[in-house]
Amino acid sequence: MATGISAMPKDARRDLVKIFSHNREWAARQREADPHFFEKLAHAQVPEFLWIGCSDSRVPANEIIGLPAGEVFVHRNVANLISLTDFNCLSVIQYAVEILHIRHIIVCGHYGCGGVKAALDGLDIGLVNNWLSPINELYEIHGEALRALPPGVASGDKVCELNVITQVRNLCRSAPVRDAWRKGQQLAVHGLIYGLQDGILHDLNVNIVSSAMAGIVCRMGIERILATPERVVG
Ligand code: CO
Repeated sequence: MATGISAMPKDARRDLVKIFSHNREWAARQREADPHFFEKLAHAQVPEFLWIGCSDSRVPANEIIGLPAGEVFVHRNVANLISLTDFNCLSVIQYAVEILHIRHIIVCGHYGCGGVKAALDGLDIGLVNNWLSPINELYEIHGEALRALPPGVASGDKVCELNVITQVRNLCRSAPVRDAWRKGQQLAVHGLIYGLQDGILHDLNVNIVSSAMAGIVCRMGIERILATPERVVG
């Protein structure tokens, strides 16, 4: 039984051929810019950043921050959630912090997040509803303040912002991050949000370098979001 691309239906074959063709062009460009690029990467990776972001195809980590292969360790899931019982995400964090000695962890949300919207709209989308339940909890916790925002304020945008800070708080509670800080390892956690409309990344002003400051910085960040009628950032 033939299992190669050539045995696939025409449309699927065309999609895959496109991917391979792009890959060959990309690899050639990299080699042209630096003949030893892949040689060096094959030897080791020394990224300074761990990026935890949304799976949304419009929010590609490396491209947004202009860093090439080898410079960002990446974990993405629907709505950039950090659950302390998610062994996938926790393993990525642990490996990044303990083995790669990452210096910065970026939690990046984005406005117009489909995961946040689906949770807020109560859409029935099967299993993903379970995954998104922390967003519903977030809305329940802050619902009163969100409903008190002036008319016209997109509460979805506010929830995207609140979600980033809530996930930063979770991250700071995770064992690998707490252990790193306890040992005096240099590690900073940042909460950012990305605008799909203009491609601009914004600082949500939650930048944390110790367990001691995590609670207050996140609390202040949440208060600032709820007190700001528009998006916290431009
Ligand atoms: Co999203």
